[in-house]
Amino acid sequence: MRGADFPAGRPRRLRREGWTRRLVAEHRLGVDDLIWPIFIVEGSGRTVPVAAMPGVDRVSLDRLEGHVAEAAKLGIPAVALFPATPAERKDAEGTEALRPDNLMCSAARLLKRAYPGLGLVGDVALDPYTDHGHDGVIRDGYVANDDTLAVLTRQAVQQAQAGIDVIAPSDMMDGRVGAIRAALDEAGLIHTSIMSYAAKYASAFYGPFRDALGSAKSLHGDKKTYQMDAANTDEAMREVETDLREGADMVMVKPGMPYLDIVRRVAERFEAPTFAYQVSGEYAMMCAAVERGWLDRERAMLESLLGFKRAGADGVLTYFAVEAARVLRS
Ligand code: PBG
Repeated sequence: MRGADFPAGRPRRLRREGWTRRLVAEHRLGVDDLIWPIFIVEGSGRTVPVAAMPGVDRVSLDRLEGHVAEAAKLGIPAVALFPATPAERKDAEGTEALRPDNLMCSAARLLKRAYPGLGLVGDVALDPYTDHGHDGVIRDGYVANDDTLAVLTRQAVQQAQAGIDVIAPSDMMDGRVGAIRAALDEAGLIHTSIMSYAAKYASAFYGPFRDALGSAKSLHGDKKTYQMDAANTDEAMREVETDLREGADMVMVKPGMPYLDIVRRVAERFEAPTFAYQVSGEYAMMCAAVERGWLDRERAMLESLLGFKRAGADGVLTYFAVEAARVLRS
């Protein structure tokens, strides 16, 4: 329906007043839409800023409860945990991923105790733990799919046992969602859900995140043999469908802003809970423009987040989560 032609029809009529704009708004961003990714480091008494992500810190475990307090108080539904593993704990097989007292599991236990009502999302992939920086183990110069699955399934079970509520495989190995679901069920962890990084692209926008984890320096080559090619959209549909069939409860598209077309297609086609990850590089470029006085931080932040809702996302993983929640609550 087009509505009446001018001059009977005047679309500006409903834009004239704040109250009509509010009344006819089709999409809304709320605190309930936000997931806050956080970084943890070893040691104690440490708050280490991430160079390319102003306002984002890596904190040691003794500071974690305080670090998350405001997010919990604001009612942000969930946080996503990422460990920055010291170089001396990394090896080719990523064995640190399976140590029951590694940063990830310790953080999960601590946060579950401190904030029982806060959802915990655990990243399952090996790149924080491998000295070559890849998400899996390498055999004959290739990131080996099935050998990696054997590690990821154990990693997922261990995270769930430590208190992670949502297993989020970000590795892009084939068959990982099905393998992880089966392993969780076998361990009796039937309530642990899976949010798969279903359509995850090999992207330049992960740069600041890899610096935050210390995986940038170590990364040999790129991740193009497992993460998706930026040129493809039909392939994203196949990836999402596969993951849903294998048992994903929620799916994610990543990065976010350059891939809103994918978010839209996934949301419309599968009608499954769909999330987008506004990744580190997106956050960094907005911060950089704000620092130069070229963008208004609050307005650009809220507009970018609303864009995800408009595209069809049910929620967004964003480094702006706490800042956005503050504004939305005020
Ligand atoms: C690793 C992982 C990455 C991100 C989340 N999990 C980086 C990568 O795949 O290299 C990126 C998040 C961001 O850039 O904010 N499996």
